[in-house]
Amino acid sequence: MDKIIVLDFGSQTTQLIGRRVRDMGVYSEVIPGDTPLTDEILNSNGKGPDKVRGIILSGSPESVYTKEGAVPDQKIYTCGLPLLGICYGLQRMNHDQGGKVEPLPKREYGRIGVKINNKNSNADDSNTTNSDVKNSNTVNSNLVALFLAGFAPSFTAWMSHGDTLTTLADGFREYGISDTGYPAVVIHDTKPYFGLQFHPEVTHCEGGTKILSAFVFGVCGAAAGWTMEQYVEEVRASLAKRVGDNPVLLLISGGVDSTVAGALLLKTLKSDQVHLMYMDTGLMRKDETKTVKAALEKLGARHLHIIQCEEEFLEALKGLEEPEAKRRAIGDLFITIQEREVARLGLPDSCFLAQGTLYTDLIESGKGVGKKAHLIKSHHNVGSPLVDAKRKLGRIIEPLDKLYKDEVRRLGRIIGVDEEVVRRHPFPGPGLAVRIIGEVTKEKCDILRDADAVFIEELKRRRAPSIAREGSYKQDVSLYDEIWQAFAVLLPIRSVGVAGDVRKYGWVLALRAIVSADGMTADVYPFPTKDLLEISTRITNTVKDIGRVTYDISSKPPATIEWE
Ligand code: XMP
Repeated sequence: MDKIIVLDFGSQTTQLIGRRVRDMGVYSEVIPGDTPLTDEILNSNGKGPDKVRGIILSGSPESVYTKEGAVPDQKIYTCGLPLLGICYGLQRMNHDQGGKVEPLPKREYGRIGVKINNKNSNADDSNTTNSDVKNSNTVNSNLVALFLAGFAPSFTAWMSHGDTLTTLADGFREYGISDTGYPAVVIHDTKPYFGLQFHPEVTHCEGGTKILSAFVFGVCGAAAGWTMEQYVEEVRASLAKRVGDNPVLLLISGGVDSTVAGALLLKTLKSDQVHLMYMDTGLMRKDETKTVKAALEKLGARHLHIIQCEEEFLEALKGLEEPEAKRRAIGDLFITIQEREVARLGLPDSCFLAQGTLYTDLIESGKGVGKKAHLIKSHHNVGSPLVDAKRKLGRIIEPLDKLYKDEVRRLGRIIGVDEEVVRRHPFPGPGLAVRIIGEVTKEKCDILRDADAVFIEELKRRRAPSIAREGSYKQDVSLYDEIWQAFAVLLPIRSVGVAGDVRKYGWVLALRAIVSADGMTADVYPFPTKDLLEISTRITNTVKDIGRVTYDISSKPPATIEWE
């Protein structure tokens, strides 16, 4: 399969570059910008299944002339693969090739017009005036034409940079200029080096996808072989080789990822081999256990072990108010129950442990994919003694580890996972415990479950306004599908109200709804007021213990998505 490598120099939008390429049907992988480019990575030994067709250099918050600016393996310039530098990526190439990059008098941010100067191109002979260009390498002139075919003569680009190219390196030529007078599109005369000062991966960049396609398909000649059907076949082949007839155990949380991972195991292995374990902690959403059980049984699960452990979790949480203490208690109990129940199953040592790890989880836990994230909250589901032991034995399988969240949803649909499960918003491992501020009790779990269910039901039956948020590409969808994650939070406060003629002293509920690409940053969903008012009324009318509803209007950062 053809592949594009994205070198990550730390820009906020690096992952978006990877997404855009995948959305075109070409597999992409993001690796740290200073990764040594071994034969294995470039697959120049021809042994791996993937063929690298090109390299994209991402943007960065750093400057190329400081020591913080990461330097790529200089092999990129000699390996013969086409390069596309974006923002810092372009500045990096220019700097490494002997050009000059200097600070702008004032940082440029936002929409800025770009004009393409085709006169510089030797691709269109009728316009060619520059003798240097005529003499340039014809292979590259064809590539230049293929690249420039992706550009409108003038368009609005999206910029975010504090530096600019002040002297182009030998061989580089300007093909596009910004309305503010700086080089915006730069191409080498004889080498396959292409550069953009703007960000084509950002939706605000007019024609950005076409520009990226021109590089990926035109310049790199990549073939679109990245489909979910093909992915299933790859997983099947790799599991057949690694797992053979051994049993596989997967711990299901009820979320989309582990459920789709379970479905994928059932689809690619014999159903008798697949053991699925699910703990009902009592901290789940309304009807979660029922929905997951039905979905997995429909997919042919034969060994579905549902562990009822609500009482144990509530007992462990008794008297705890501090968020990290609650998370630790839940994490520890998960491990205790997991060990006890796995031992009870009596599976042989040869058993493999499967996990629903996604590509973005590898980024968040800093396992060498993309940039490293700081630990903001202890995500309990990152490790356990069982996971560690199986990892040491080389018996962990992570069949979703190449996929982004929405690719997992697409995969789930293809292999027949219920729509109700596939479209579900993300849910944290510690469940409602981090959405009940302060001490967790059964009574509070029940109140929150009911209020949350009303909120979600309302979002599912309401259409998103047609003036969808900027950058959204979805049309005519429900509010639920337009929103990335929505939930209710029960606050440890009661407030006075009236119900009929009677004084009511009910709990305060906060609603949270955010839009996000991957949960790493998030914006508040700008609800039409009418929806919020109606939803609030329905909650206070139907969930008798809720007296007041508020809407959380904090973005991430500085807030996190969950409250604890
Ligand atoms: P925060 O609150 O950190 O959440 O902004 C980012 C995303 O992660 C989810 N989340 C968790 N997921 N275990 C999980 O599996 C956890 O401990 C956990 N804590 C937060 C959260 O729902 C959001 O989607």
